[in-house]
Amino acid sequence: MSSTVDWESYPREAEAAVAAAGSLDAIEDVRVQYLGRRSALALALREVRDRETGMLLNGIRQKVEALVADREQALADAELDRRLREEVVDVTLPGDELAVGHLHPITQVRRMVENAFLGLGYEVRDDREVETVEYNFDKLAFDEWHPARSPRASFFFDDRHVLRTETSPSQIHAMEERPPPLYMVSIGRVYRRDAITATRYPIFHQFEGLAVDRGLTLADLKGTLLHVMRQLYGPERRVRFRTHYFPFTEPSIEPDVSCGICGGAGCRTCKFTGWIEMGGAGMVDPRVFENVGLDPEAWGGFAFGCGLERTAQLRHDIPDIRALWEGDLRVLRQF
Ligand code: PHE
Repeated sequence: MSSTVDWESYPREAEAAVAAAGSLDAIEDVRVQYLGRRSALALALREVRDRETGMLLNGIRQKVEALVADREQALADAELDRRLREEVVDVTLPGDELAVGHLHPITQVRRMVENAFLGLGYEVRDDREVETVEYNFDKLAFDEWHPARSPRASFFFDDRHVLRTETSPSQIHAMEERPPPLYMVSIGRVYRRDAITATRYPIFHQFEGLAVDRGLTLADLKGTLLHVMRQLYGPERRVRFRTHYFPFTEPSIEPDVSCGICGGAGCRTCKFTGWIEMGGAGMVDPRVFENVGLDPEAWGGFAFGCGLERTAQLRHDIPDIRALWEGDLRVLRQF
């Protein structure tokens, strides 16, 4: 038994060291110092020869072990309390905001058009963009000499297939699919061989309406377009018709909507006329009815076609059509 150790004060020193240990690391140091394999206690225990000393030293060991264990538990509890207090997640705090996108202006307008026509009981349809010459031109009563049949005007794959130049072939598909009465609107892309400028793009969108029923007149067409234009541009709008020519309507007209920027007084947008051109329209030509096997004496109908880009441009006052195709977020975020 080592004579340099005062076994009476050993547990008191250990107790003081335990009490002073303020962290789990510190208490571990205390354990090593007073109970570890190289501690005075462990060394002395190894050399015990008599029962009395053994009981004394083992009693000290048990006491110090208990002190260390208690303190360790207390420190661990305090540490857990601290973490529970400090590391709480406040679930009521607002989260990081995610960037939310929005629909492209063309899609926005497309949905407005769909809604306007669904409100009138029209069916919304989507047709093929690669058409046959038969459906794009022949059945729509385009004459052989019509300039749109030229490969300089339209994108042909071969002499029988073409990227549709308008949504009007949907009229033929709709009438061939089932018998009238028929009220449909077809929306989608069309293609023409135009150079890209501020006002033209070789790809654009149209919406095409067709109504086939008994006793339809130009007044029904005008009322329908008036309703849709007011849905798209606001309740103040007026609609007027100018005569025109299309192969598949007779009579053919071009509808204008009163300019919403100047209220009809005349401004740059309406080229100082007070009116804005909306597209084409007319009563279904008897030849078209015959081409789909309908009796032109029994059925009447009207049709119209308008560009979606134009509608989006007018709604948002976008001066250059290219902005709608370039995908520049700095531009698109504004609409
Ligand atoms: N398809 C014609 C065009 O693109 C528009 C139109 C549609 C005219 C329906 C009359 C009837 O110019």
